[in-house]
Amino acid sequence: MNKSAVVTGVGSGIGRAILKKLTEEDYFVVGIEKDLISGKSVQTEYGNKVSVIIGDTCEESILKEAKDTAIANAPLWSWVNNAAIALSGNLHNPKRAEVERLFDVNLQSVYWGCSEAIRAFIDQKIRGAIVNISSIHGRSAFSGWAAYDSAKGGVDALTRYIAVEYGPLGIRANAIAPGAIRTEMLTRVINEAADPAKAELEMSILHPLERLGEPHEIADVAAFLLSSQSSFLSGQSIAVDGGATARCFRYDSSEEINALKF
Ligand SMILES: NC(=O)c1ccc[n+]([C@@H]2O[C@H](COP(=O)([O-])OP(=O)(O)OC[C@H]3O[C@@H](n4cnc5c(N)ncnc54)[C@H](O)[C@@H]3O)[C@@H](O)[C@H]2O)c1
Repeated sequence: MNKSAVVTGVGSGIGRAILKKLTEEDYFVVGIEKDLISGKSVQTEYGNKVSVIIGDTCEESILKEAKDTAIANAPLWSWVNNAAIALSGNLHNPKRAEVERLFDVNLQSVYWGCSEAIRAFIDQKIRGAIVNISSIHGRSAFSGWAAYDSAKGGVDALTRYIAVEYGPLGIRANAIAPGAIRTEMLTRVINEAADPAKAELEMSILHPLERLGEPHEIADVAAFLLSSQSSFLSGQSIAVDGGATARCFRYDSSEEINALKF
């Protein structure tokens, strides 16, 4: 292995799929995961291809440990800020502690993760790449998701900033804005709905492809954005959302399209 990557939130869902994909691409991957059981299971499954640090991305010492561990194994070329939490809420009935925790995890830890990555790239003189996992919530508002929407919009803005500021050094940054992806996070959101079956159906048909996305479909795009195949791509937030944000109004497919379904 002649390159390493840091990925946050590797215990489940999208982060775990990204870690898997990057090990297949011959990276040594340092994962950060706050959940002890899932973190340990990743370490056991991938053995010496990875090093999982059990800790919180909001702690500077954990981000630094991840960076140092990666560099100790191979030059650090890639950093993926994926860890986030989903807490709903609005402005007229705010829960301050939840809002502050959400901004800490979903925006501040991404900010400091990017800072750690940029400093590592500069110190090593490496034209590295960053991928931030944003959301379609970063570009479209969803009722009841005030803090989550705001944090994801911030992630997109931060990604653009990095691309502009550090582009002259050959460093690239992109975000991925997933639609609804079948992960533990989504399952929790669905199960909290008054009618979970209806909520899952509604989330599926939010996408013109009429299904939920799968974690590997985000991991494939992340690997592409970290690779030389996307060497002129920077500063973008790419929606991987089954076409959801390509439309602003949902209508039933025409009879012609329904007749063509296979
Ligand atoms: N699942 C979706 O539908 C969806 C849609 C759009 C965007 N996203 C984004 O994708 C990313 C991954 O989401 P997911 O659905 O895989 O979530 P998930 O909850 O299934 O997995 C997230 C992992 O990150 C870990 N984690 C959370 N906070 C952490 C912290 N502070 N420090 C260390 N580890 C932490 C969790 O323990 C968990 O293992 C998030 O940024 C999320 O906002 C998800």
